[in-house]
Amino acid sequence: MLSETGSLRQTGGQKLARVVFDAESIARRVRELGCEITEAYPEGELLVLGLLKGSFIFLSDLVRRIDRPLQVDFLVAASYGAGTMSSGSVRLLYDPETKLEGKHILLVEDIIDTGKTLNRLITLLRERSPQSLEICALLHKHIAEHLEQEAAFLGFDAPKAFLVGYGLDHAENFRHLPYIASLT
Ligand code: IMP
Ligand code: MG
Repeated sequence: MLSETGSLRQTGGQKLARVVFDAESIARRVRELGCEITEAYPEGELLVLGLLKGSFIFLSDLVRRIDRPLQVDFLVAASYGAGTMSSGSVRLLYDPETKLEGKHILLVEDIIDTGKTLNRLITLLRERSPQSLEICALLHKHIAEHLEQEAAFLGFDAPKAFLVGYGLDHAENFRHLPYIASLT
């Protein structure tokens, strides 16, 4: 696969090391997740909330595999404060237009790393009285010291490497790759 995408192997001084999850494996797992989600939800309104930007490709593939009525909205979150260390505070740059009260909320995230973003968002969303609140993550590094809530739906256990593609970026590059690769 990498040989077909030679021009993508080096972007912004970064090189792809290896393909970790190829497009076919991702498609298969997303189909399975769609079935799991379809079966898991009882009657009631389901709102699928994508956390931008990283989840945009995953979310668009996933919702097409969920066979029940649903609505889609997005969240854009940013960490507070200066510096490169995550402060753990999260500010919403875009807050969903849709009311969350009384709905089943499925928060869709690209990857769970330290879990800080998700911990803050979960706390914030719980305050809005949804009927239920669950997490669907494509990837999970399993390195978080504390998770407020585990992902009820998970695509893959991820290696501890830095991953790009299928929505995940490094300095905004590589999001468009149809597979997930690690950087050198
Ligand atoms: P957390 O708050 O440390 O869990 O950070 C999660 C966010 O950091 C994800 O939504 C991603 O946008 C980003 N991130 C964490 N690990 C990676 C990675 O390996 N590749 C690309 N982005 C990542
Ligand atoms: Mg990112």
